[in-house]
Amino acid sequence: MNLTLHVWRQKSAGESGRFVSYEARDIDAHMSFLEMLDVVNEELERTGEDPIAFDHDCREGICGTCGMVVNGRPHGPWEQTTVCQLHMRQYKDGDEIWIEPWRASAFPVIRDLVVDRSALDRIVAKGGFISARTGSAPDANSIPVPKSTAERSMDAAECIGCGACVAACPNASAMLFTSAKVAHLNLLPQGLPERTSRVLDMVLQMESEAFGSCTNHGACETACPKGISVDFIALLNREYLVAAVGGSA
Ligand code: SF4
Ligand code: FES
Repeated sequence: MNLTLHVWRQKSAGESGRFVSYEARDIDAHMSFLEMLDVVNEELERTGEDPIAFDHDCREGICGTCGMVVNGRPHGPWEQTTVCQLHMRQYKDGDEIWIEPWRASAFPVIRDLVVDRSALDRIVAKGGFISARTGSAPDANSIPVPKSTAERSMDAAECIGCGACVAACPNASAMLFTSAKVAHLNLLPQGLPERTSRVLDMVLQMESEAFGSCTNHGACETACPKGISVDFIALLNREYLVAAVGGSA
């Protein structure tokens, strides 16, 4: 199939960007979306133009590196699917596709479709870990964890840190991401020694970055490729309240 792409091109954070149109020719329906971009880039390089810069690594939906807005939707049209797992059978000959980077002040564009997501790393650095000694693997098995609690923690741990939730949110809020990181550890007994400092420090860091506030639109959950539930935002608010003013969860 042949497609027309309108791609955001921007040389650096300090320069203005604009959409540039390209023809993507002889695209196989079995290609992934990123493979289609690879084909376009090979043609650009062949003609001496700069290839379109985009982030990618595993191309299996597990690392969280890829991310772009496709026809207005972070990661494209497929639910709970990263853009690296989106396939060209979604499209038909003659389609036009608009491709742009995550749009958020907290994610400045580095080049083309690549944005700086280090704000998310700085939130994780404030508490997304366990520093208490948890022993070795056999010791972990000696700490009873109810199955429902372990499963809920694992649901939160599915967050791959892609930032689509921020890109989808009209406020560019990072609440879904932060809530997943807090819930993953605060739900487990191994996370309890740092439960209070974790939620206070991670929320403080989130607020010091250029993210907006959550106003319950729910666009984050819809865009999330891992189906992280907004229920975790409710959990984060409860954890924060308990940590800030005391009381029981
Ligand atoms: S909550 Fe979902 S959309 Fe947000 S960073 Fe994690 S995996 Fe990506
Ligand atoms: S490249 Fe790893 S999730 Fe897409």
